[in-house]
Amino acid sequence: MGDRQHPMRAIAAGVMLSVENGQSLSQCLPPALNRLPANERPVLQALCYGTCRWFYRLDGELNSRLKKPLRKPDRIIHHLMLVALFQLRFSQQANYAVLNETVEACRALDKPHLTGLVNGVLRAAEREGAQEPADDAARFSHPVWMVEKLRHNWPEDWQHILDANNAQAPMTLRVNALRFARDEYLGLLAEAGIEAKATRFAPHGIQLATPVPVDRLPWFADGAVSVQDEAAQLCTTLMDLAPGQRVLDACAAPGGKTCAILESCGELAEVVAIDESADRLPRVQENLDRLDLNATLKQADAAATEQWWDGEAFDRILLDVPCSASGVIRRHPDIKLLRRESDITPLAAIQLGLLDAMWAILKPGGRLVYATCSVFPQENHRIIQRFCKQQTDAILVEPEAQWGRDMGAGRQLLPDPDSHDGFFYAVLEKPEP
Ligand SMILES: C[S@@+](CC[C@H](N)C(=O)[O-])C[C@H]1O[C@@H](n2cnc3c(N)ncnc32)[C@H](O)[C@@H]1O
Repeated sequence: MGDRQHPMRAIAAGVMLSVENGQSLSQCLPPALNRLPANERPVLQALCYGTCRWFYRLDGELNSRLKKPLRKPDRIIHHLMLVALFQLRFSQQANYAVLNETVEACRALDKPHLTGLVNGVLRAAEREGAQEPADDAARFSHPVWMVEKLRHNWPEDWQHILDANNAQAPMTLRVNALRFARDEYLGLLAEAGIEAKATRFAPHGIQLATPVPVDRLPWFADGAVSVQDEAAQLCTTLMDLAPGQRVLDACAAPGGKTCAILESCGELAEVVAIDESADRLPRVQENLDRLDLNATLKQADAAATEQWWDGEAFDRILLDVPCSASGVIRRHPDIKLLRRESDITPLAAIQLGLLDAMWAILKPGGRLVYATCSVFPQENHRIIQRFCKQQTDAILVEPEAQWGRDMGAGRQLLPDPDSHDGFFYAVLEKPEP
């Protein structure tokens, strides 16, 4: 697999090393995939996602099998062995092939002096089988701080959350309500031989029995549907959109919710979509183009309103803040390696700062929806409580929802292995003067 110089496993080990050094899979995987022929790319993707997902289990085992850590310049071989252990423990691949190809990849990485070590460690791992996990961090394959934080925040649910984070997420679609009724599109999927069902809570959502490439979805390129988790789709049910409103999506990229807003109400006066990332903002335009929708895009720090705001207040604001993404770990298992406990307090400060700034440009009588894909209360209902303490005129609206749990200041969805991601929403209204 792969070419002679760059076998698949050597490439996977390089990707894992980049993740350990702070790059996300969405940054470092695409260039790695481009080094392989199309038919081998799904295998590389599965290796990297799987190794990230089970990193804390596999790394514990590997460390216990090594007499001493590898030297820093040889660190890539540590990752090469993790990739192999992932396959030994979690894939159908024949063990002898895993061993042979890993030793070959070690040579291709120009580390012939380590082939003996790699061979010895993997042979022992094969012979002795998986070890009993040493602690909850290894058992649930999460960093210790996440396990402890979840145990503290969710004493009844922490194990369920950790298990859900390790499950494969379903592929969920949002039907473009301007083009198709959900039932109509379910019919098209059935004709195409794609098994699917309506989502329970999101009115335009469809969950597929098994993921498929988007080009197999009927009329995808023409904007019939988008890929979006059910929890993310719920934002439009909270926004109380009506024709003529001026709507702001303050943290918009890649535009999933911007498009959902435009689809759910055809005659909005204007939708302004802001994102501070010059790399991510073009994704919003791509999604708008495919769906044949229009929004005003601005690259800016939403909180620096003096730099981008024209002075006309908004009827509706969606504030989908940057967060730990702890609710979407099943879709982005690299978060386990990338996020630090020390990230959360600075994130909370950014979240509260954005909320303050957006409140100032919301029309009296207007509504603001605060959203995160986090399961940490520090980024969720505690932010809303802190905000409401400062902003005593803010009206906290309790949405009538069948989903999630009422946290007293917003609703929390925990990740559900059978359906939606972990998410948080709160709805605030500004009183008329
Ligand atoms: C959770 S993502 C948004 C996802 C998006 N709403 C969707 O549904 O597709 C958060 C986004 O906020 C952007 N961001 C972070 N800080 C920002 C700021 N101060 N102003 C504007 N955008 C910001 C990030 O670049 C990122 O794209």
